[in-house]
Amino acid sequence: MITPIQGFSKLSKDEKIKWIAENYTSNTEQTTTLLKRYWNTNNTVQKLHDEFIENTITNYYLPFGIAPNFLINDTLYAIPMVIEESSVVAAASKAAKFWLTRGGFKATVLNTEKVGQVHFMYDGDPKKLIAFFDKIKPILKSDTASLTKNMEKRGGGVLEIELRDKTIDLKNYYQLHCTFETQDAMGANFINSCLEQFSKTLKREFENSEIATKDKTTLEVVMSILSNYVPNCIVKAEVSCPIEDLNEDKNIAPKAFAEKMLRAVQIAKAEPFRAVTHNKGIMNGIDAVVLATGNDFRAVEAGVHAYASKDGRYSSLTHASIENGIFKFWIEVPLALGTVGGLTSLHPLVKLALEILQKPSAQELMKIVAVAGLAQNFAAVRSLVTTGIQEGHMKMHLMNIMNQFEATENEKIKIVDYFKNHTVSHSAVVEAIEKLRKNND
Ligand code: MEV
Repeated sequence: MITPIQGFSKLSKDEKIKWIAENYTSNTEQTTTLLKRYWNTNNTVQKLHDEFIENTITNYYLPFGIAPNFLINDTLYAIPMVIEESSVVAAASKAAKFWLTRGGFKATVLNTEKVGQVHFMYDGDPKKLIAFFDKIKPILKSDTASLTKNMEKRGGGVLEIELRDKTIDLKNYYQLHCTFETQDAMGANFINSCLEQFSKTLKREFENSEIATKDKTTLEVVMSILSNYVPNCIVKAEVSCPIEDLNEDKNIAPKAFAEKMLRAVQIAKAEPFRAVTHNKGIMNGIDAVVLATGNDFRAVEAGVHAYASKDGRYSSLTHASIENGIFKFWIEVPLALGTVGGLTSLHPLVKLALEILQKPSAQELMKIVAVAGLAQNFAAVRSLVTTGIQEGHMKMHLMNIMNQFEATENEKIKIVDYFKNHTVSHSAVVEAIEKLRKNND
C-alpha cells in the first residue's frame, strides 16, 4: 500500500524519481531511464527548467514549428508555434500562403486596458462607503507610488480605481475595480502587487475611519487579484479580397466558396455547440503562438472564452461578410500578452521565438497572435466547407500512426507514397504496414 510522503519537495531529483518509479510504476528501471532520457545534456539548461516549477523530474517536450509567409501589415513574418496537434502548423502555413497573394493580413490593436479587483464585504451605509472611498482614493494611489514608479516611466501605471457596489449580486459585496496599462509586460505581478497594496490601504484607512470607529460597521477584504477577463484589451485582425480572387480550389467556384464560408460563420454565431469547436480551431493557432512566446495560455483561454460569451450566449470569435463583391473575414479577441518579464527573458526557446518575430512589442505580438488565430480558423473552415477535415488531418496523422507501429524510415517512405492516392484511416495504415512487412518476410 502507498503511504503519503512528507517533504517530497525536499528530496533530490534522483530521490523523487526513485520514489515515484517505485511507488507508482510497474518497472522502476524503465521509468528511471525514460525520465532521464528527457533530461537536457546541458546542465545549465536543465537547471533552468528544474527551477521553473517545483518537483521537476524531467522535461516534457512539445514540437516547436514554424509557419512561414505571414504577411501582416506589410511585414513578412515566420511564426513560431508550439503544439502537438499534427495538422495545425500545416494549416496555418497554408492559410498564410493563401493570403500572401491577396493582400495579406491587416491587424490593429483597439485598446490595451488590463483589470484587477479588490473584493470586499461591507455591512454599512453605501453612501458612507462612497464618501469614504472618495476620501481615500488619492491615498490608494500615493501608497502604490513606489510600485508604479518604473511602470509609469515606461508609460504605464494605474489608470482608474472605481468603487463598485455589487450588493445586487451578493449581500454586502463591493469591489475596487481597477484598470491598468502595463505596456510590454503582461503585468500580472505588477497588477497583483498594486492590488495587494490597495487592499492594505483600504483596511488601514477603514479601521481609522468614523464608519468603523463610530458606526461600528465592518469591512472585510476577501481577496485581491487581477482578472483574466480583459474585454478592453482587444486586437482585430482581418483579411479581405474580391470574391473572384477566392479561386484556388478547382472544385468550388469562388462565389459558392465565399457564401459557404459566410454560412459556416453564421452557424458558429447561432449555435453554441458549433461555436465552441469553431473557436477551438482559433485557439489552435492562438495557443501555439502564446506558448511559443512564453505567455500564459490558460489566462488567454479563460479570457477569450468569456469574451465569446459577452453578449449572453457563447458565439463565434470570427466574423465574415460579403459586400460589394468583397469577401471579408475577421476576428476580434482579447489578448493580454507580454514580451518582457515572465518566461520571456528566461526560456532560451522563448527568447528565440521572440527574436524570430523580430522582438515585437506586446501590441505587435497581440496582432501576430490574432492573425494566427484567424488563419487557423480560415484554414479549418475552408477544409470543413470543401473537402472535410479528415483528408488533411489524417495525412498529417499518418506519421503518428507509423511511429506508433515503429515503422522504419524505409517503411515510412513507402507508406507515405502509397497514401498519396489512398484514403488514410488508422486501420488502412495498419493494414498497409502489415502487408509491407509480410511482403518483406
Ligand atoms: C480541430 O483541432 C479543430 C477543428 O475542429 C476546428 C473547427 O471545426 O473549426 C477543425
